Amino acid sequence: MISRFSRQSAAANPASATTKSNPAPTAPPASAQTPAQTKGAASAKKAPGSKNDLLSAKLRIHSKLIDEIDLSDLDKLDDEALRRQVHTLVSEIVREERLTMNATEVVDFANAVFDEMTGLGPIEPLLQDESICDILINGPKQVYIERNGELELAPVTFADDAHLLRIINRIVAQVGRRVDESHPMVDARLPDGSRFNAAIAPIAVDGPLVSIRKFSTQPLTTEKLVGFGAMPRCVADFLQGAVAARVTTLISGGTGSGKTTLLNALSSSISHKERLITIEDAAELQLQQPHVARMETRPPNVEGKGEIKQRECVKNALRMRPDRVILGEVRGEEAFDMLQAMNTGHEGSMATIHANTPRDAITRLEQMVAMGGMNISEDAVRGQIASAIGLIVQATRLADGQRKVVSVTEVTGMETNVIQMQEIFHFERTGTGPEGEVLGTHRATGLRPKCLDEMLTRGLHYDTNWFDPHGDLFREQP
Ligand SMILES: Nc1ncnc2c1ncn2[C@@H]1O[C@H](COP(=O)(O)OP(=O)(O)OP(=O)(O)O)[C@@H](O)[C@H]1O
Ligand SMILES: [Mg+2]
Repeated sequence: MISRFSRQSAAANPASATTKSNPAPTAPPASAQTPAQTKGAASAKKAPGSKNDLLSAKLRIHSKLIDEIDLSDLDKLDDEALRRQVHTLVSEIVREERLTMNATEVVDFANAVFDEMTGLGPIEPLLQDESICDILINGPKQVYIERNGELELAPVTFADDAHLLRIINRIVAQVGRRVDESHPMVDARLPDGSRFNAAIAPIAVDGPLVSIRKFSTQPLTTEKLVGFGAMPRCVADFLQGAVAARVTTLISGGTGSGKTTLLNALSSSISHKERLITIEDAAELQLQQPHVARMETRPPNVEGKGEIKQRECVKNALRMRPDRVILGEVRGEEAFDMLQAMNTGHEGSMATIHANTPRDAITRLEQMVAMGGMNISEDAVRGQIASAIGLIVQATRLADGQRKVVSVTEVTGMETNVIQMQEIFHFERTGTGPEGEVLGTHRATGLRPKCLDEMLTRGLHYDTNWFDPHGDLFREQP
């Protein structure tokens, strides 16, 4: 049982000083309250109207509770027992402080305290909010969230660096990692699948830095992406046809531009008869096919040993009889093995890459192969890239936060040592709206993709209107 005691306030608050031997004290009479309590109660007595009022009331009693709960008892209790204890204590404090909270609010608040002790503390509610996709913490007093493509400051703070650090350590401990001065940067995956990165001193200058990419339980489908205006339906249809026809597709874009989301959405058109192997640092993809084998790389342990890199996973995947290999992000020497796989019977494999344009994506691939120290000529590498990659889909997060497919480019071959590409669709920016929103439209260039032949051979249909440079791509095709 958690005992309630007050380390700091025992002298000042005789009521709580006696509670150690009495785990379920009754609320003290109003006269027993210290002046500080009375003042706090008076200010809290006005109903916490707005969400922010409630939040500040919560934060205030939050820290009080954390002081009063004997944290050393935590390990001895199971979750349910602990939750019940927390509820009892919260109800008492709410009564003592005469807070105007209804029963539901008390339960919510008790849950928040429980989260504080066992989960991610103040940011737990942010993690549960489906509309938030990124949580970015810059030291204990500044938490930003991304919602609908825009960053906003969240009304959430940590007590101090130590509080934030404690929570970071709790998270990374769950995945058997540690963060301290000698290992100040760490990646981890939260129990709900969210991607977590933390950097602490001496790397982080103004307190611990945390970045969380929320795992969305309902990933965006192509249908939804079309609905959001990320691309017109005909572009989605073309891409889905190409993926179904095993045209090898690379998804290129900057950080947070929506690459993984696109990869996930497009993969839905892969036949359910195929065996897919996914390789990621933190498993984010949620493929819908029944036959998916998922692999994750492993970072080195605290002694710097035991790392399993993407390259090893790719090599191993090729011994596992995949029809396609789906690489979460190609970023190093595994590029060579991936290209080989794409050229030798694993057509239709897919990957994302950090690059700003399709041409840039090709250059980066060349550099990655070079990083692997393979003794092959530049031309040979280009030849491999040209024959391996079919389409490059460029994703971008625009200035106003919208995420769009801004280019669909086909790799058509090699001529005089230069990889040939042709753009099929692009997003044309036409101006800026009154609220700073990006205005523009998707257009077809009028070029007919070579991969259409492949689509036709496989019995996949397309509409020539899709590629009409004068057509309105957002018009629904009959
Ligand atoms: N078209 C879109 N409209 C709205 N939200 C989107 C869109 N595409 C992606 N998102 C959201 O944006 C966030 C980032 O997307 P995603 O993880 O796919 O980006 P990424 O490019 O893979 O990022 P990273 O470089 O960090 O791996 C996700 O929360 C996702 O749900
Ligand atoms: Mg990603």
